[in-house]
Amino acid sequence: IIELSLRPKALSQYIGQHKAKENLAIFIQAAKMRHEPLDHVLLYGPPGLGKTTLAQIIANEMGVEFRTTSGPAIEKAGDLAAILSSLEAGDVLFIDEIHRLPRAVEEILYPAMEDFCLDIVIGTGSTARSVRLDLPPFTLVGATTRAGLLTAPLRDRFGVLSRLEYYDTEALREIIERSATVFDVSINSEAAIEIARRSRGTPRIANRLLKRVRDISQVRGETEVSMATTDRALTMLQVDKIGLDHIDHKLLLSIMDQFNGGPVGLDTLSATIGEESQTIEDVYEPFLLQKGFIQRTPRGRIVTEQSYLHFNRSYPKKDQ
Ligand code: ADE
Repeated sequence: IIELSLRPKALSQYIGQHKAKENLAIFIQAAKMRHEPLDHVLLYGPPGLGKTTLAQIIANEMGVEFRTTSGPAIEKAGDLAAILSSLEAGDVLFIDEIHRLPRAVEEILYPAMEDFCLDIVIGTGSTARSVRLDLPPFTLVGATTRAGLLTAPLRDRFGVLSRLEYYDTEALREIIERSATVFDVSINSEAAIEIARRSRGTPRIANRLLKRVRDISQVRGETEVSMATTDRALTMLQVDKIGLDHIDHKLLLSIMDQFNGGPVGLDTLSATIGEESQTIEDVYEPFLLQKGFIQRTPRGRIVTEQSYLHFNRSYPKKDQ
């Protein structure tokens, strides 16, 4: 029996991200033919698009162990040295939020990635000396929201750079129907498309919305999740017709109402709506930028005519 879990285990089950999948499939196959570990991989893109899932799939496809940690979890060089020296040949080490590694920790990664060795200092003062320890060859898979957050020396040590993109409605519908099977619930196909349209291009959001829609459908005694229940549930959750949530709304309305459409700086906006600058930049802005609701200018963020139309407002003509 093949266990069906929310996270796909093989590249062939991973929906969407065709470019990343196609490239990885070739590099994995080539590394396996040479009996070598896969080169280090950097996965970047907005949260919730499946970076961790893809890292696990890489380990499965290579037939090696998957070890996982994150940038903020590693405080001292010794913490990372301990992890690296416990790896087995070929293992995948996944470091989530790799841009948040402390600088001193990052520096021990350079020789580890490049030459599979650890330079450690033993003793202090005049008796201090540096020794070089060999490590088993391994694959580092790093994940970050933006490749530009990494220092150049770290970024340069990855052989494969793979950018994950927002999913289209069709790919999200497939993911939702697959997840519904995992949850053992049947869903009307129009309802699945509706959740897909309102998930901000993000599987993590799609799966979360599916769970909440299922709750309401169940309480209503439905045998199949209906379109009416789906629309009702998503409206209750303050997810609008195109998937913008109440924070997206707060952000866009704040720029329109308090800053006359912008431009407004990120930190000012952050203070005004009470969301962290980093969250605005990594979670909210990328989708709004891609969909054309906001633009970045050298003087700050501005909302576009499309935003005004979305809220049924007329676009103020600025005479400058
Ligand atoms: N669940 C989350 N992301 C997925 C993907 N890309 N394919 C299949 N299931 C998923």
